[in-house]
Amino acid sequence: MTDILTGAVPLAGAADLGRDPVDVPAVLRRLAERADAGAHTSIGFPGAVDLDHSAVLAHLGRRLWNNIGDPATDPGGAAHTKALERAVVAWVAETLAMPADDRWGYVTSGGTEGNLAALHAAHRRWPNARVYFSSAAHYSIRKILGIIGARGIVVHARPDGEMDYTHLAAQIRRRPTRPAIVVATAGTTMTEAVDDTARIRDILTAHSPGGHLHVDAALSGIPLALDGRLHLDAGSGIDSIAISGHKFFGVPSPCGVVLIREHAREIGDGRRTHGRHIAYTATRDTTISGSRCGLAAAMLWHAIATHGREGHRWRVSEARRLAAYTVERLTAIGWPAWRHPHAFTVVFATPPGQVREKWLLATDGPVSHLVCMPGVTRGQIDAFVTDLAAATEPEPPSARVNRGPFLYTRR
Ligand SMILES: Cc1ncc(COP(=O)(O)O)c(C=O)c1O
Repeated sequence: MTDILTGAVPLAGAADLGRDPVDVPAVLRRLAERADAGAHTSIGFPGAVDLDHSAVLAHLGRRLWNNIGDPATDPGGAAHTKALERAVVAWVAETLAMPADDRWGYVTSGGTEGNLAALHAAHRRWPNARVYFSSAAHYSIRKILGIIGARGIVVHARPDGEMDYTHLAAQIRRRPTRPAIVVATAGTTMTEAVDDTARIRDILTAHSPGGHLHVDAALSGIPLALDGRLHLDAGSGIDSIAISGHKFFGVPSPCGVVLIREHAREIGDGRRTHGRHIAYTATRDTTISGSRCGLAAAMLWHAIATHGREGHRWRVSEARRLAAYTVERLTAIGWPAWRHPHAFTVVFATPPGQVREKWLLATDGPVSHLVCMPGVTRGQIDAFVTDLAAATEPEPPSARVNRGPFLYTRR
């Protein structure tokens, strides 16, 4: 913090608001310069950098846009973007082939809020259920179970990050009278593994007296939906999904979309939970947050409207092509690396410290990854591989082959 506020530009007293005069433009400029300077070597976290959202900020950046309450009910006044929010939700739902008469959703503040909204609905419907999630699931799931007061069961993940279905079935069979809420992941955080929702649905049908299947699709939801590989049609058995908006769409403010099948919002006796009408906001209170970011909905809408499904499919295929190239380049210098065939994420043995000091990767012990999000370039990958090769130069490549372990699992 001190570094940001007192760095290269002289900003005496900037950290001490209220005491000394602050050079406000210089502080803002310094923040932007710092982020720009780090952008080239920042390849470990999945935010697309190829889309330009500035038109939205140019038109709408001067006022508060508050999409308070349920997306279907417009608040008083005109300073909201709910029409755009409804269009975004409909586009995502249609891309996922969700039945039009059995869906509800809204633009969230991110993947975590989407998971919370979906698991809150599931737990309200199945209060005695246990919630099953894999050891590769995102850390938000445990936190959410604490918030909603649900009990969780951790299911093993395979070394490549995908759920161990035999273990899931065994865990559900141990509790034959309890409904099961299962959290599948479409794009686990470290390896971008995708859990097989058809297998999970079949396990639920065979062994659970009811329940809910939620998909945490923060990263891979849109790419897999555009492929036609992830769908929430009536036969899918999937009840809800949460997607991040700042990952694939690169929206410059954290956001996301949650979708829940209408029937999965019923409480035990068949009543539906459409929230209370709040008189002074003139909206229904169905969302986790009350006030919600109308700019985020507008930026998502802009990203979708300006590129369409074909444009986004092209972005997906270019990103995958670069990920495949990255595996080739790393393998060619004898550095163990792999990826799932659909993935933007490349997983590899953790590089030496001097490489990690320069390059912002995501590292968990012996395993690191980089993510070839749309906008990452071949030039960046080439520079990273060159640095890695130079850092390990004295060691002959043959000694580095199969350095492992570089598969990823957590128990
Ligand atoms: C699988 C998965 N779920 C959920 C999230 C949480 O998303 P957010 O940070 O938008 O809340 C992430 C973020 O990296 C993720 O990888």
